[in-house]
Amino acid sequence: MKTNELNIPALFDVLPEQPAFEPGIRRAPRREAHLSANDKKLAVRNALRYIPKKHHSALAPEFARELEEHGRIYGYRFRPEGKITGRPIEEYKGNCIEGKAIQVMMDNNLDFEVALYPYELVTYGETGQVCQNWMQYRLIKHYLEHLTQDQTLVIMSGHPLGLFRSHPMSPRVIITNGLMIGQFDNQTQFNRAGAIGVANYGQMTAGGMMYIGPQGIVHGTYNTLLGAGRLKLGIDQQSDLGGKLFISSGLGGMSGAQGKAAVIAGASAIIAEVDISRIKTRHNQGWVTAVHDSAETAVAEALDHKSKGEACAIAYHGNIVDLLAYLNEQDILVDLMSDQTSCHAAYEGGYCPQGMDFAERTRMLAQEPERFRQEVDRSLIQHFRLIQQHVARGTYFFDYGNSFLKAVFDAGVREVCKNGENDLDGFIFPSYVEDILGPELFDYGYGPFRWCCLSGKHEDLVKTDQAAMDCIDPNRRYQDRDNWVWVRDAEKNALVVGTQCRILYQDALGRMNIALRFNQMVREGQIGPVMLGRDHHDTGGTDSPFRETSNIKDGSNIMAEMATQCFAGNAARGMSMIALHNGGGVGIGKSINGGFGMVLDGSERVDTILRAAMPFDVMVGVARRNWARNDNAVATSEEYNQLFPTSDHITIPQLADDSLLDRLFQ
Ligand SMILES: NC(=O)c1ccc[n+]([C@@H]2O[C@H](COP(=O)([O-])OP(=O)(O)OC[C@H]3O[C@@H](n4cnc5c(N)ncnc54)[C@H](O)[C@@H]3O)[C@@H](O)[C@H]2O)c1
Repeated sequence: MKTNELNIPALFDVLPEQPAFEPGIRRAPRREAHLSANDKKLAVRNALRYIPKKHHSALAPEFARELEEHGRIYGYRFRPEGKITGRPIEEYKGNCIEGKAIQVMMDNNLDFEVALYPYELVTYGETGQVCQNWMQYRLIKHYLEHLTQDQTLVIMSGHPLGLFRSHPMSPRVIITNGLMIGQFDNQTQFNRAGAIGVANYGQMTAGGMMYIGPQGIVHGTYNTLLGAGRLKLGIDQQSDLGGKLFISSGLGGMSGAQGKAAVIAGASAIIAEVDISRIKTRHNQGWVTAVHDSAETAVAEALDHKSKGEACAIAYHGNIVDLLAYLNEQDILVDLMSDQTSCHAAYEGGYCPQGMDFAERTRMLAQEPERFRQEVDRSLIQHFRLIQQHVARGTYFFDYGNSFLKAVFDAGVREVCKNGENDLDGFIFPSYVEDILGPELFDYGYGPFRWCCLSGKHEDLVKTDQAAMDCIDPNRRYQDRDNWVWVRDAEKNALVVGTQCRILYQDALGRMNIALRFNQMVREGQIGPVMLGRDHHDTGGTDSPFRETSNIKDGSNIMAEMATQCFAGNAARGMSMIALHNGGGVGIGKSINGGFGMVLDGSERVDTILRAAMPFDVMVGVARRNWARNDNAVATSEEYNQLFPTSDHITIPQLADDSLLDRLFQ
């Protein structure tokens, strides 16, 4: 133990100068905070806990000002000078490889090329933060630099509670974010808890430190679009979306993947985005192919590509509601439609109401929050009505996991609910998981497995891509072929933003086999160390009735036990870093989700962990889906039972006949 080297007061002993805010870096809007005078005192008192007493009189007014101006205390002064970026692992200090690896991941989440609002520690999803403030960032780093293989660091809502003795087969870091007691588990209470500095919104991989830029979602979006085409537009399994029109909105953190995914899938796409800075980012990256300020010219260009069967990703600089209205007026058939505005945080700035530009949205949010709410509701209702009209004309609309339909319901539209009353039976338009991702991928265990080459070397990524491809049999199922093609073309599609990472949908054993292969490559010195992980948005990682578990139909979709078991089970099996969060992509109180990070150092110890943890992480989700009587999950579980007869066994459900129950309950 080297805890005697920890010197926390020294971290804040000398007050640094306020580092400059570079122009052109996106800034978070003021966060909602209705605080009493006592709450404000509490917020400042809480923030001062990190700071030696001698600086309190200087910092208290500064923190109070931040709270007033931003609705949060970020401790901007303690931000590192200049840009943050995930550097090669050997450039970090540390007593164990995991301590260094997690620093790479944390810095990658705050990379100026990657993060949505890097100064406010927001990685993506409007409000998804790595931690609450820069004091926590400094302190987490300090602990990670001292962490040994006999200790575990506990991080609660961004606050590093401390290092505690454990052992080399334990997680090195355990993270929780925003977990609230049921009675208080709502947005209003969360806003207060966030403002007084005791709750962090970790989204999924933001607080879970496994974000890999928009690439992370490109693969899922590509799968979803292709799946929608196959299931709803009659596209055969060998073809792509050539000649089909896809309309959506959002070119932000995750939503920014839509244009790229649409092009890889062959579609002609228009994505509406109100914030020009996000359009520029995606355009500079080459993830959108053209930019238009007018709906008329955007649509004309897309239709031209569509008629030639060419793929395109056109950014329309404007509100999605205006784009849908124009398409409606012109009687244009849209084949596929979705939305990826940040509706999980619609009133916090995630959804820009129709009729105002982005600057006015930011002003109104800060100065007239109640009026802003009304405008959001008005616009959501208009948005929903336009979608209904397109659907009546033959469009397939799906909710893409951003709580859009829930936001419409919250805006007062009862008819968006299947039962016309409340959201217990879901909504009239399917979520993409209900129709596509759930039955076709999650029920088999396919989900967003990912890895990062900690050396920062591109050549390592190329080698791992090739090794992963070698582990997949493209002839087993169409999903395997899609994944094989994905990783074969990944390099050509230039998907990396930030560190050298890759996403690749895989099932339980696919992930384990690839993980073992990579660990062997590390052992043999072919590549540097690797961090494995996944999005929380996965087979077993997330309980979320309107999204990940929306195709669970045994009534257990309101339970949060699978994600919790997954988290605990991964800890028990020794994953390097594990996280459990409230909210994720759908908002506080609406999901519990977890993820992991696993450092491959080439050791036998890691092989042992991989053999137990990788299949469990996925199969806990397949097993639960099987118990919910999902056909593909039942078949996958039966197969798994046969493969591991001496070590694992999943309980298979007995299926009751409909006729029996229909006779009983007429
Ligand atoms: N399905 C999934 O797998 C998945 C994955 C990640 C995120 N999500 C969800 O998708 C949403 C978007 O995530 P993100 O990370 O891109 O968030 P983001 O906030 O970075 O991006 C959303 C974008 O929508 C734009 N926007 C808002 N209102 C608009 C409007 N009316 N018209 C046009 N543009 C508008 C914003 O300017 C912003 O750029 C979130 O709710 C997130 O939880 C879903």
